[in-house]
Amino acid sequence: MEGSKSPQGDLILRTLAMPADTNPAGDIFGGWIMSQMDIAGGIRAREVTGARIVTVAVESITFIKPVRVGDVVCCYGDVVRIGTTSVTINLEVWVKPSMNSASAAGNKFQVTRAAFTYVAVDDDGKKKVIQR
Ligand SMILES: CC(C)(COP(=O)(O)OP(=O)(O)OC[C@H]1O[C@@H](n2cnc3c(N)ncnc32)[C@H](O)[C@@H]1OP(=O)(O)O)[C@@H](O)C(=O)NCCC(=O)NCCS
Repeated sequence: MEGSKSPQGDLILRTLAMPADTNPAGDIFGGWIMSQMDIAGGIRAREVTGARIVTVAVESITFIKPVRVGDVVCCYGDVVRIGTTSVTINLEVWVKPSMNSASAAGNKFQVTRAAFTYVAVDDDGKKKVIQR
C-alpha cells in the first residue's frame, strides 16, 4: 500500500520511537502510533475549539508501513470538519528513518493515516457548542 507523496496538514507533534514501544517482532506497536495520533489530534482540537475535548471516534485507520526503533515519528493534522460540538481532523504519521536503518539515506515516508473526531465538553464532560 502506498502513502501520499507529501504530508497533508500542519506538523503538530514529533517524537522518537523507543525500544519500550515495540512488539515481540521488534516493530513499533500500532497502539503506540494511535496514541501519538490521538495526542496530536487532541492538541489541534483544543486549539480549534478553545475547550476541553474528548475523542469520540476514530475512522479509517490504515497502517501503511511499519515503524522501527529510532525512527522520528511526525504527526500532521488537517481540520476537515467543524460541527456544532465536534471537530474532525485527518491525521497522517510520517517517519524520518533512524540513522542506523538501511533506508537511512531515504526521505521521510508515510506510515499511517486516520480521521479522528473530538467533541468539545464542559467541566462535567457534557458536550458543548463550539464557539466560532
Ligand atoms: C463524546 C460524548 C460527550 C458525546 O456525548 P453525546 O451527548 O452522546 O453526543 P452526540 O451523540 O450528540 O454527539 C456529539 C457530537 O459528536 C459527533 N459524533 C458522535 N459519535 C460520532 C461518531 N461515531 N463518529 C463521528 N462523530 C460522532 C456527533 O455527530 C456530534 O457532532 P456535532 O454536534 O458536531 O454534530 C460522549 O459520548 C462521551 O463522553 N464519550 C466518551 C468520550 C471519551 O471518554 N473518550 C476517550 C476514550 S478513552
